[in-house]
Amino acid sequence: MEDIVIKQTDANSPEYEQVWQLREEILRKPIGLSLKDEDLGDDAKDIIVIALHNNKVIGCLMLHPKDEEIIKLRQMAVYDDWQGKGVGAKLMNAAEHVAAIHGYNKIVLHARVTAKDFYSKLGYRITSDVFTEVGIDHVVMEKTLNP
Ligand SMILES: CC(C)(COP(=O)(O)OP(=O)(O)OC[C@H]1O[C@@H](n2cnc3c(N)ncnc32)[C@H](O)[C@@H]1OP(=O)(O)O)[C@@H](O)C(=O)NCCC(=O)NCCS
Repeated sequence: MEDIVIKQTDANSPEYEQVWQLREEILRKPIGLSLKDEDLGDDAKDIIVIALHNNKVIGCLMLHPKDEEIIKLRQMAVYDDWQGKGVGAKLMNAAEHVAAIHGYNKIVLHARVTAKDFYSKLGYRITSDVFTEVGIDHVVMEKTLNP
């Protein structure tokens, strides 16, 4: 794991194309959808956190400001080969650090029900009933960040 680099970036970076590919492969293709059919206008406003191995993006998440205090975490994905090796937890850790540095005190997210226990282990709590988004079950989760 020592050869994994976690980095903050954005939609204007050279890595954005790889982030797009990762999201397409892990978050859209398995449910029969494509990012090509979505309005990705929000991407330009987001902080993107990536995990790199040999300069290749292997994991990502995006942070979208909601208001002065709350930032929404979205598009959390790790390539299949790298799942279960701590990359996701590292990304979440970095996201919380970045959010706190920028003055946000709460992270909210829409968790796929299949991933909710991943977030629970990291201190996120469920704050909604199950709802459907991109055709699959989700719950809202949140975590208050320590000042
Ligand atoms: C969910 C995902 C981001 C987690 O990333 P990861 O790198 O595999 O997670 P980690 O290896 O850092 O796991 C951290 C802990 O969470 C657990 N965990 C990981 N994914 C889990 C899941 N789907 N359900 C329950 N626990 C999970 C791990 O077992 C590990 O537990 P431990 O600390 O007791 O060992 C990744 O598996 C993924 O991209 N999945 C497909 C896309 C997806 O569902 N994204 C989330 C959309 S809301």
